[in-house]
Amino acid sequence: MASELDIIKAPVSRELKQFEDNFKTSMKSSVPLLDKITYYMVQKKGKQVRPILVFLCAKVCGELNASTDVAAALIELSHTASLVHDDVVDNAYERRGFFSINALWKNKIAVLVGDYLLTKGLQIALETNNYRHLHTVSMAVQQMAEGELLQMEKARRLDIDEEIYFEIIRQKTASLIAAACSAGASSTTDNEDVISKMWLFGEKLGIAFQIKDDLFDYGDEAIGKPRGIDIKEKKMTLPLIYSLNNTDRSTRKKIINYIKKDSENEAKVREVIAFVKATGGIEYAEMIMRRYQDEAIEILHSLPESEARSSLNKLVYFFTNRKN
Ligand code: IPE
Ligand code: IPE
Ligand code: MG
Ligand code: MG
Repeated sequence: MASELDIIKAPVSRELKQFEDNFKTSMKSSVPLLDKITYYMVQKKGKQVRPILVFLCAKVCGELNASTDVAAALIELSHTASLVHDDVVDNAYERRGFFSINALWKNKIAVLVGDYLLTKGLQIALETNNYRHLHTVSMAVQQMAEGELLQMEKARRLDIDEEIYFEIIRQKTASLIAAACSAGASSTTDNEDVISKMWLFGEKLGIAFQIKDDLFDYGDEAIGKPRGIDIKEKKMTLPLIYSLNNTDRSTRKKIINYIKKDSENEAKVREVIAFVKATGGIEYAEMIMRRYQDEAIEILHSLPESEARSSLNKLVYFFTNRKN
């Protein structure tokens, strides 16, 4: 049976198939160790929501072409590189239902594999003179690093509030999703207003996407990567921030102390999760996520109706209803 994502992909299925073949080829290396690792990686492909966004946003704005393919490859390579590095940073040993690169080959190798993938993407854009995509994506990757570092700073000091949380997720996740949408658009139209609009659409969507990711951390379902890890890494996300801001001082102090001193203690982490669930943190984060989703839909509906737009509409709902 066709999955929900298969239906969404339908208007650009041919281009996506071509993308997958090219993506595999672009990961190849003549260094045996590297080739072994990238071979392992292509067997465990992700949902590919960013290339899907590139193609659909491109199609909403015009005719797909070679520059659209370059944008898709550059963005998925940058994303894949960021996940390899993120699992080092987060000490995470599972990714896409399998061992992460750092789990199998250790941090030193994972850092270099991430660098290799990122550079591969840059080269594809350079060789084809797609400087605009390079500009868009390098800006997004810079923001991603800044977002991850801001998150680390806040994990050390435990002084995060909602405003900083949104700044972190806008930088670390929404920027690359926005880059996917705007690069797709810029490959098929010269209309700068439309390209900016697609960036904004992606940014709203990306924020909703990361809130969903942060909600997974509190869930009981298997998602192919570790859960409960955010608290363990002292990452305070929206459900916890809300619950801490809406409780009495002594409970707040107790929970913050657990995170500060006992984040490796499974029982204490479970207690923090139970506290968030009991105090409405999950429902609050879901409500905010829907708000960003609605804002994305509103932007989308300001574009002319088409088959690609209808797929993008479905994709927005997929982002917040997804199971992994
Ligand atoms: C995971 O992104 C990283 C986040 C920004 C939350 P995806 O959920 O798109 O990862 P894959 O590519 O499908 O594994
Ligand atoms: C998102 O951060 C990954 C990047 C933006 C690099 P997370 O650490 O929250 O994502 P997952 O949950 O590991 O995929
Ligand atoms: Mg991280
Ligand atoms: Mg992580």
